[in-house]
Amino acid sequence: NKGKYEHYMQKEIHEQAESLTTTMRGRLIRGGSCKAKSVLLGGLKDHLKTIRRSRRIVFVGCGTSYNAALAARPILEELSGIPVTMEIASDLLDRQGPIYREDTAIFVSQSGETADTFQALEYALENGALCVGITNTVGSGIARNTHCGVHINAGCEIGVASTKAYTSQIVVMTMLALAIGGDSINGQARREAIIDGLFDLPNKVKEVLKLDLEMKELAKLLVSEQSLLAFGRGYNYATALEGALKVKEVALMHSEGMLAGEMKHGPLALVDENLPIFVIATRDACFSKQQSVIQQLHARKGRLIVMCGKGDAQSVCVGGSCRVIEVPLVEDCLQPVINIIPLQLLAYHLTVLRGYNVDQPRNLAKSVTTP
Ligand code: UD1
Ligand code: BG6
Repeated sequence: NKGKYEHYMQKEIHEQAESLTTTMRGRLIRGGSCKAKSVLLGGLKDHLKTIRRSRRIVFVGCGTSYNAALAARPILEELSGIPVTMEIASDLLDRQGPIYREDTAIFVSQSGETADTFQALEYALENGALCVGITNTVGSGIARNTHCGVHINAGCEIGVASTKAYTSQIVVMTMLALAIGGDSINGQARREAIIDGLFDLPNKVKEVLKLDLEMKELAKLLVSEQSLLAFGRGYNYATALEGALKVKEVALMHSEGMLAGEMKHGPLALVDENLPIFVIATRDACFSKQQSVIQQLHARKGRLIVMCGKGDAQSVCVGGSCRVIEVPLVEDCLQPVINIIPLQLLAYHLTVLRGYNVDQPRNLAKSVTTP
């Protein structure tokens, strides 16, 4: 039931304040005078000790689910101190990459039925790793065959392009990082700031959704473009990849997400007055590096669209020469949840304006169950 919306993708984008609330329900502990703020993931609590002892955490997924894991990687590394590596499921299988008994392998899949991810799970089980599932589908193959896991509880997602599952996956993996990180005194202030940020996140999502009309106007400007680029880094490298994936899969427009740190090593050659380039420059430890990326693109007359925090337009945009999308700021590791939403809206409006099928893009399936 699409309710007041025209398409499922549109409905699913707009219901993210609610889906995130459901994802977090019963899992955040507010704390009190003698109790610290914390998270409780019922599906993991008996396995946390084993995970903390692992030598490495390996994220495995495809498409949007891989991007969600990439967004959560930095905070998991920070809070756990354990090396976290990334695997696209098909590539792990192609290489038969080494997986050890001392590894924790985390399989991220909205449907829980993606063939590549499921085969990678079988492979990791054979190699003796502790296998953890992060899925939206109770009773799915991945949920049943992992040793333990977390359901993201985002509610049924119908649009082929994943939107609300992506933001719920990031939130679950952030909670997982908090749970693995434990309760050491030195990380307490940081953990509490993140938990406060999680409590407030649905409000911030409602705020960023107000950019809908602005994104529709931007889509009108970009509707006939051949190509878009998106540069991100740190927490928002994933935002660049996922924003570009949304545009290519539904709006059928070529778009590439790139690591801003790699800009000088090739992509800079593409910059001219015509190619629209998104730069994600919200406040975090990489902010000044992103300011310098913007200056370099500007010096080459790049056509810039910069995403920054509210009130930061002057700090990111040299002489008012670029278009700015201002988003509400949240705790740095949660910023990818906010930042993807304008790009989801943009992809949606581009698709409608270009006259393509929003909910069932050409050649794609919601769940790819054959390898
Ligand atoms: C569970 C109940 C929830 C109830 C809550 C009350 C289910 C599905 N969930 O939620 O209805 O309100 O207790 O405390 O009955 N698992 C995997 N792999 C996965 C995902 C999950 O093995 O990919 C396992 C978990 O380890 C766990 C079980 O499935 O044993 C349920 O996981 P989850 O729904 O996340 O647990 P709770 O949040 O505790
Ligand atoms: C398909 C979908 O390719 O599978 C994508 O079209 C999705 O939207 C990908 O990201 C992975 O799916 P899942 O269910 O494993 O998260």
